[in-house]
Amino acid sequence: MQRDEEKLGRYFVNPPDDISLASVDLDHLPRHISLIMDGNGRWATSRGLDRSEGHVAGVKALRETITASVRLGIDVLTAYAFSTENWRRPQHEVDLLMHLFATTLVRELPLFERENVRLVFLGDLEALPRQTKEVFEEGLNETAAHTGMTLGLAVNYGSRAEMVRAARTLAAKVSDGTMSIDDIDADAFSDELYTTGLPDPELLIRTSGEMRLSNYLLWQLAYTEFYVTDTYWPDFGRWDLLRAISSFQSRDRRFGGVK
Ligand code: FPP
Repeated sequence: MQRDEEKLGRYFVNPPDDISLASVDLDHLPRHISLIMDGNGRWATSRGLDRSEGHVAGVKALRETITASVRLGIDVLTAYAFSTENWRRPQHEVDLLMHLFATTLVRELPLFERENVRLVFLGDLEALPRQTKEVFEEGLNETAAHTGMTLGLAVNYGSRAEMVRAARTLAAKVSDGTMSIDDIDADAFSDELYTTGLPDPELLIRTSGEMRLSNYLLWQLAYTEFYVTDTYWPDFGRWDLLRAISSFQSRDRRFGGVK
């Protein structure tokens, strides 16, 4: 991925004491970083605000993380915005999130245009409110030819549902004779997932201290390095991203082998 060194330097000015651009090896960045953006509600409640304010602040944190990732030259950034289980939240919070997704996307399209960001969605968009779905489709079409960073937004996403869907598609292909059972392997399965064509995440960041996967990318995270921070998502920013990358670069990745 191309990197504009001048813009990069300007984006990461005035570092805090513990981290700076010099702390990371820019030649060995993770190609795909994935985010579980947790803690919006607690961030808001701890400030005496409504949970909705936490989601609005969360959008700002996502914008900063997207910009920082583009500046660094990350190939793929994926973020868990709404799970198949999140429909269980109070209706007004679901409505607010769906509205926030749509307005955010419309507002950020110029950023994606300027920064050459390609948008993809992970999840079943059919169940989304019409306006949100239409805006997402517009975002997909308008950014499809972009060649910079790929931004994957997981919305109405659940990993088990994704895998069941892949299994059904493969079974249908075998049943109609377009595929033989022997052709079913890990690559064929991966090709039927929402992440088809994307490399597996090398680094997963989860905010607000929870140590669980919450039905997120269970197949794709097989060899991913995890980074969990106590920071609530709305407080996450460019320096936290560097902290996560620096931690990733200190790991000894063996992929089940020995070195
Ligand atoms: C988790 O916090 C956060 C969410 C469920 C929503 C995250 C969504 C965004 C930041 C906006 C994404 C933007 C687009 C355009 C897709 P929580 O509510 O679970 O917090 P809690 O655990 O403290 O209650």
